Amino acid sequence: MEPTKKDVRVIGEKIYLRPITLEDTDLVVKWRNNEKVVQNFIYRKPISREEHICWMEQKVATGRVIQFIICDLQTDKPLGVVYIQNIEEEHSKAEEGIFLGEEEAFGRGIGTEAARLMVRYAFEILGLHKLSARVLAYNMASRRMHEGAGYEQEAYFKQELYLDGKYEDLIFYGIIHN
Ligand SMILES: CC(C)(COP(=O)(O)OP(=O)(O)OC[C@H]1O[C@@H](n2cnc3c(N)ncnc32)[C@H](O)[C@@H]1OP(=O)(O)O)[C@@H](O)C(=O)NCCC(=O)NCCS
Repeated sequence: MEPTKKDVRVIGEKIYLRPITLEDTDLVVKWRNNEKVVQNFIYRKPISREEHICWMEQKVATGRVIQFIICDLQTDKPLGVVYIQNIEEEHSKAEEGIFLGEEEAFGRGIGTEAARLMVRYAFEILGLHKLSARVLAYNMASRRMHEGAGYEQEAYFKQELYLDGKYEDLIFYGIIHN
């Protein structure tokens, strides 16, 4: 079978991105349910194995979501996940999501590099015009990471979401392919 755009590996300096497979299921479910990730996501309910497999079948396999595993370039160790969802071909745009899973991965510039690689892939390989990201205002790591990857703040929504008994501010970030 001819390789498709979804099969491409994106190589960086410390990491590379490879397409997610069903074999990554246990790891990704564990990472996504880690408190550090849950507290920074809008959807907070635990994700089951079955739900993830359903996501893989209905979204990833159909191309509605393009999802990569972030891997260490030296050791191949999987470290986290980056993806685009809500792909709108008509408007040539999509929404980015990202989370690291392995404790050792946090705070070493891996997130920023993965976000940059995703932007490169979306613009240069997929030919998209715009990526956006929704970030809870208190998530400074994600704000700094998106800014470091070239995203700009486009909107700040005060008390936009009611999460765990509190109203939270939400920031929309965007990056445009010039
Ligand atoms: C967001 C996330 C992917 C960032 O990845 P990372 O590799 O830890 O981030 P980096 O090391 O690239 O750091 C990016 C910036 O954030 C800063 N930063 C990192 N961790 C931070 C923290 N806990 N608090 C405040 N700032 C932090 C870094 O200093 C860096 O800032 P700089 O560019 O000004 O130097 C990671 O923290 C994560 O997976 N968080 C949980 C899930 C999540 O929040 N996903 C995004 C939802 S919108």
